[in-house]
Amino acid sequence: MLVIEDLHVEVGKVPILKGINLEINDGETHILLGPNGGGKTTLLMSIMGLPRYKITRGKIYFKGMDITNLPPNERAKMGIGIMFQKPPSIRGVKLYQIGEITLRDGNDGDKIRNYAEMLNLINHLDRDLNYGFSGGELKRSELFQLLCQRPELVLLDEPESGVDLDNIALIGNVINELLNKVDRIKSRRSSGIIVTHTGYILEYVNADKGHVIMDGKIICHGSPRDLFEEIRKYGYGRCVECL
Ligand SMILES: Nc1ncnc2c1ncn2[C@@H]1O[C@H](COP(=O)(O)OP(=O)(O)O)[C@@H](O)[C@H]1O
Ligand SMILES: [Mg+2]
Repeated sequence: MLVIEDLHVEVGKVPILKGINLEINDGETHILLGPNGGGKTTLLMSIMGLPRYKITRGKIYFKGMDITNLPPNERAKMGIGIMFQKPPSIRGVKLYQIGEITLRDGNDGDKIRNYAEMLNLINHLDRDLNYGFSGGELKRSELFQLLCQRPELVLLDEPESGVDLDNIALIGNVINELLNKVDRIKSRRSSGIIVTHTGYILEYVNADKGHVIMDGKIICHGSPRDLFEEIRKYGYGRCVECL
């Protein structure tokens, strides 16, 4: 599904990612852990192809195709979708309009309302995209858009941060749906990369592999639960010692 080779990325002329290698097979979910500023968001943004994130060395392949130089809209059409850590608000574009634009299997008002209902956003459909939304509403709005888009590779940047406990289960279940059922008929599974700080999401999602990113490099791999437990006990300081 995704192969990343020796990826180096600069943001505003500052080198942030310094040689990332990562492979994600069909149907796998990977968890990214790491201290603030380590480069997790930069990695997801680079996979999505946002122009501010300049690839200076290395390659990204998606479903066998070199996408290193493709713009984000092309990547979205090929089946990559992202839930931003800090989503932008767009005045003049309604939430339901984004639903119509992103719906993969054609424009279908019932589906849009259905997804909005799943995420308690039925009263938000007529509002400007993310404008004035609370932290939790922003996360649900991002998931609504992903439900419409149904990407084969789902990138989730701290999906549970700022979400109250009542809504964590809701978000966990929707993420599970996104990862498990891209195509019910062929029962194909999507792949995912999830950045998490709290680890709550591990209660809902069957994650296959975990990685720790620090100072722009993947410094450790392991089972997501083991990694998370170790970090909860000893902090990232221990990762540095371990290195
Ligand atoms: N626009 C920018 N200009 C300069 N530095 C940036 C910019 N965006 C991010 N960075 C820097 O890149 C580093 C990695 O950030 P980020 O990928 O957001 O880390 P994480 O998501 O792991 O917390 C940080 O040191 C951050 O300050
Ligand atoms: Mg981040």
